[in-house]
Amino acid sequence: MPPLTLDTSDSRDCSRPLLFECAWEVANKVGGIYTVIKTKIPVTVSEFGDRYCLIGPLSYKTAPMEVEALEPTDDPALSEALKSMRDRGVKILYGRWLVEGAPRVLLFDTGSQYHRLDEWKTDLWNLAGIPTPPNDHETNETIIFGYLVAWFLGEFASRELKTAIVAHFHEWQAGLAIPLCRKRHIDVCTVFTTHATLLGRYLCAGSVDFYNNLEYFDVDHEAGKRGIYHRYCIERSAAHSADVFTTVSHITAFESEHLLKRKPDGVLPNGLNVVKFSAMHEFQNLHAKAKAKINEFVRGHFYGHYDFDLENTLYMFTAGRYEYRNKGVDMFIESLARLNHRLQKANSPMTVVAFIIMPAATQSYTIEALKGQAVIKQLQDTVTEIQGRIGQRLFEKAARYQSNDNVDLSNIDGLLSDEDKVLLKRRIFALKRGTFPPVVTHNMADDANDPILNQIRRVQLFNKSSDRVKVIFHPDFLNSNNPILGLDYEEFVRGCHLGVFPSYYEPWGYTPSECTVMGIPSITTNLSGFGCFMNDIIENPSEEGCYIVDRRAQSVEESVNQLTDYMTTFCQKTRRQRINQRNRVERLSPLLDWKNLGIEYAKARQLSLRRAYPDRFLNDELDMSGGFEKMPLSIPGSPRYRHGAMTPGDLGTLTEEMQHLATTDYNGTQSWHDIRQMGDEEEN
Ligand code: UDP
Ligand code: G6P
Ligand code: GLC
Repeated sequence: MPPLTLDTSDSRDCSRPLLFECAWEVANKVGGIYTVIKTKIPVTVSEFGDRYCLIGPLSYKTAPMEVEALEPTDDPALSEALKSMRDRGVKILYGRWLVEGAPRVLLFDTGSQYHRLDEWKTDLWNLAGIPTPPNDHETNETIIFGYLVAWFLGEFASRELKTAIVAHFHEWQAGLAIPLCRKRHIDVCTVFTTHATLLGRYLCAGSVDFYNNLEYFDVDHEAGKRGIYHRYCIERSAAHSADVFTTVSHITAFESEHLLKRKPDGVLPNGLNVVKFSAMHEFQNLHAKAKAKINEFVRGHFYGHYDFDLENTLYMFTAGRYEYRNKGVDMFIESLARLNHRLQKANSPMTVVAFIIMPAATQSYTIEALKGQAVIKQLQDTVTEIQGRIGQRLFEKAARYQSNDNVDLSNIDGLLSDEDKVLLKRRIFALKRGTFPPVVTHNMADDANDPILNQIRRVQLFNKSSDRVKVIFHPDFLNSNNPILGLDYEEFVRGCHLGVFPSYYEPWGYTPSECTVMGIPSITTNLSGFGCFMNDIIENPSEEGCYIVDRRAQSVEESVNQLTDYMTTFCQKTRRQRINQRNRVERLSPLLDWKNLGIEYAKARQLSLRRAYPDRFLNDELDMSGGFEKMPLSIPGSPRYRHGAMTPGDLGTLTEEMQHLATTDYNGTQSWHDIRQMGDEEEN
């Protein structure tokens, strides 16, 4: 093996660095980090081209469908590095990830190196004093993955000696390679981005008053009490060993400073790959189409109790990983119960169907849920058949018209035959049902102790006819191949009217952000990174269809009432008002586009290069554009965006030393000020 500690820092060219981006969710979907990685690829590829390569774990379940295998023949350093590892038994999939931008991707099979786990655990203890218990599968995976990535970077950096290498790591599960690179003096510069802190997630899921006590937690003690001390050590050492440490929002930056004991160098807000339709209102048509599919599901699900008017029905939903308290599902259900009461009292013509999309352990779909879709489909098929026969009879009747006949269409008896009537009645009788439409679509592994079901039981939202708010808990992510609610998540969101995400712990929160770019209004909180971001950059988010519940400065009771008020007001809107609101929401999407937000990543990489190779930047003007096109800086200031041309992430500012540069480098296409002006012109 070539020496891994070769000092090449004098000779590396920093102007066109290579970039490795490493995360557990590369080609491996779990939650929001997958969305960060995948949606950011187009802007990163446009900057780096084939100098960009993602690194992740090799999941045999998904990778074969997502990755086209290749040999890196055009890159001798990479090809030799991979060969050297393969010769030692590491299984690797290298190729192109088949997503927009088709980046290079390198996936390591952790299973192929499990026999080295004990050796590496001992090394980790000797090197960094990090202890690891025997049976924590997630930590074992993290260790093997971390050692493989550090091994690879060592192999690669000792062969590629001309160009600077930036290695960007996301979250603790990919972060272990950072202290290893540092200890082994591997010549790469590192960025670590955390998307949450372990302790934050655990503490919030319990019943602590997290935000008022952030500064005072005895972190080692708290981590130990929850059995995550070793994981916490990995996370903390990643944060401390990285050249640049960042996170996704200010709220998480503050949390990281206190729980990980390093103040982040800056904030990298999460963007999306915003696709603009050529026709302005195309997204409205998509809403109508997707809603029709949800309508179809609802007719089936509520068979026998389908006594409400779909024209006056609103679809609200919440979605995400099943974190009951962190994602605010407790608050959502409580507010739904209050909304139900208010709508009943007001004799409202509106019905709300509220979906909860959160994967939990289940056995299968319930028979009732499947039956609902089956009986309604049979009814539909029967009606189509009868319709055909009626058509034929009608045609026959009309064709028999003779010139001296009176054209009398009043007597259409006989069009519906007795057999058809019997058939139709049978189908209608099949809709009889002695139970309420089910709340949950699957058989839960632990029905009696499921927190969501228990809360629904407590507030008694059982889908009775008298309920104006109906609830459907779908304990799995959506997929268009599912026999129930067979839509992809994106299509489902488009078909809904309002996303509700009253999170207590949410470093960013992609779900409301995705609603925004699809033109669907949403409710979030000022404890979510996204909510705070919108609060910071636009003047009155609620007026724009981006409602923010205050969960900081008021009691839980007050927050629940505020959420109920938002939902109630939403139910009072006319269709025209809803259409207008969707237009306003969709207008905000440039603010969330990677084309605008990607620059923060470019700055973080530049800072890491500058820190790793300070000599190279002594006399240089630092290029902060990161390859983004420049735009004229003529945007006048608005109260919220008062620095005119500043970048959204500058709210976080990547360290003091960068500030004077940052303000001159905003390459985004639109600011809130532009959008507001555009709207004002439209409405005038
Ligand atoms: N999501 C999905 N299918 C679903 C529900 C959610 O793919 O049925 C995705 C959603 O698009 C979002 C991610 O799950 O990108 C959740 O990310 P978020 O940042 O909101 O929360 P996290 O789970 O990372 O805490
Ligand atoms: C879109 C469509 C309209 C449709 C409307 C329904 O705007 O373009 O044709 O009437 O959606 O809106 P609603 O809020 O009632 O689902
Ligand atoms: C984490 C957070 C979520 C965030 C996502 C992407 O999973 O829980 O709030 O949106 O990472 O940064």
